[in-house]
Amino acid sequence: MRVLVGGGTGFVGRALTQLLRSRGHEVTPISRHPGKNRITWDELSRSGLPPCEGAVNLAGENILNPFRRWDESFRQEVVASRVETTTILAKAIAEAERPPHAWVLVTGVAYYRPSHSTEYTEESPGGDFDFLSRLVTHWEAAAKIPGDATRQVIVRSGVVLGRDGGAIAQMVWPFRFGVGGPIASGRQPFPWIHVADLAGIVTHALEREGVSGVLNGVAPSAVVTTNGDFAQAMGSALRRPALLPLPGFAVSAIFGAERGAMLLEGQRVVPKRTLESNYCFAFPDLPSALQDILA
Ligand SMILES: NC(=O)c1ccc[n+]([C@@H]2O[C@H](COP(=O)([O-])OP(=O)(O)OC[C@H]3O[C@@H](n4cnc5c(N)ncnc54)[C@H](OP(=O)(O)O)[C@@H]3O)[C@@H](O)[C@H]2O)c1
Repeated sequence: MRVLVGGGTGFVGRALTQLLRSRGHEVTPISRHPGKNRITWDELSRSGLPPCEGAVNLAGENILNPFRRWDESFRQEVVASRVETTTILAKAIAEAERPPHAWVLVTGVAYYRPSHSTEYTEESPGGDFDFLSRLVTHWEAAAKIPGDATRQVIVRSGVVLGRDGGAIAQMVWPFRFGVGGPIASGRQPFPWIHVADLAGIVTHALEREGVSGVLNGVAPSAVVTTNGDFAQAMGSALRRPALLPLPGFAVSAIFGAERGAMLLEGQRVVPKRTLESNYCFAFPDLPSALQDILA
């Protein structure tokens, strides 16, 4: 299968590209920057969809970039980098003479309202209570294409854990120096997934004829994982203490209140439809995922 991957140059995109190529598929990233064996968003808008059987969008400005202030211009970039790229790709798919068989968009579990008690499946309501939840609603709406020539799948991802990027790359150093610990009380849910499984679910969605609609991209045990459990598992995997909590006010000072809430709150998410679609997780439990990542 020839697969176009928007944002294929990023953290998840690199893992997905490697997995798809290992399974004999051809991958072409879509990027803002021209280069060998890739196309740009401008080329895609101008010339339409190149021949392909699958399309994926992973493009998006890093929301938790600590070097960017959470102001209106950054918020707009966060939205545009997701909604505009998705609109461009969906339009190209809708107008293609030979549309791809499958089209997969990765969004986020910020769709569901943070809560210590409520468990969310793909059928749970959400998407209309704060900036990030509304972003997910607009982002997913931008992916919709008319007709049924192309199977459409949305993967709502939790915090992606992997060796070379994402949350672990930002959080590992305090733990290595023995000054890591939970964020605030540590009691907030921590919806997580190993990057190999997120790449696995996207690949499964591209390859499996019967898969469509929303799939939650979290590990099966993530529904009971708290931020404190994550800190403890990081400490054990690195054989370091993980006792020093990062105070909530420090998180809000670095990231701003709205964005800091992503770390201070969390959702208990169940990958119900993902499991029903017969996806088999390589890393269902946090200790095994962290052993793999931090080994
Ligand atoms: N990582 C997580 O924990 C997590 C959790 C939930 C959901 N997600 C979602 O999963 C997707 C992939 O995540 P990731 O961690 O792989 O992301 P990433 O590495 O931060 O970025 C992916 C790609 O997006 C493109 N991009 C960055 N800023 C952009 C901008 N302003 N405009 C257009 N394109 C831009 C870049 O490609 P070029 O430089 O080649 O253009 C980049 O390689 C994202 O949409 C993210 O929101 C991630």
